[in-house]
Amino acid sequence: MKNVNFSNWLHVLLAVGLTTVVLTVQAQAVDVAAAEDLIKVNKCGKCHSVDKQKDGPSFKKTAAKYKGKSDGEAKLYVHLTTGPTIEIDGVKEEHTKVKAKDDAAIKNLARYVLSR
Ligand code: HEC
Repeated sequence: MKNVNFSNWLHVLLAVGLTTVVLTVQAQAVDVAAAEDLIKVNKCGKCHSVDKQKDGPSFKKTAAKYKGKSDGEAKLYVHLTTGPTIEIDGVKEEHTKVKAKDDAAIKNLARYVLSR
């Protein structure tokens, strides 16, 4: 009996483990189309592109800046929602506050930038 119980436990642990992996992968997934749509609607492209420096850093540059750091998504969320002061050619202005239907859409946008 002891062996049977042990084997049952292994199955339970395996099932829990796999479920966790699946949920984690789903949570991290990026909806590229939704992110690019938000970028278009919010006119981020005026100052940003995926791989070219404009008035603002390229998304690739930002991705590199946060590479390996676990708080990148949280930092970008704050950057995109609080309108921090930025400076373009010596002129200070407020960074665009992204307009989105909900927080999840903004976090998706943050993950999009981080995964360029
Ligand atoms: C008027 C120009 C302008 C617009 C429009 C603009 N940005 Fe920026 N953005 C900047 C500048 C300049 C910086 C650099 C700020 C700094 O490093 O102090 C920046 C920084 C960033 C960063 C990097 C933040 C970090 O922590 O390194 C991200 C990501 C970003 N912008 C995304 C966006 C998105 C998404 C939009 C559209 C909702 C947007 N920006 C609209 C000029 C702009």
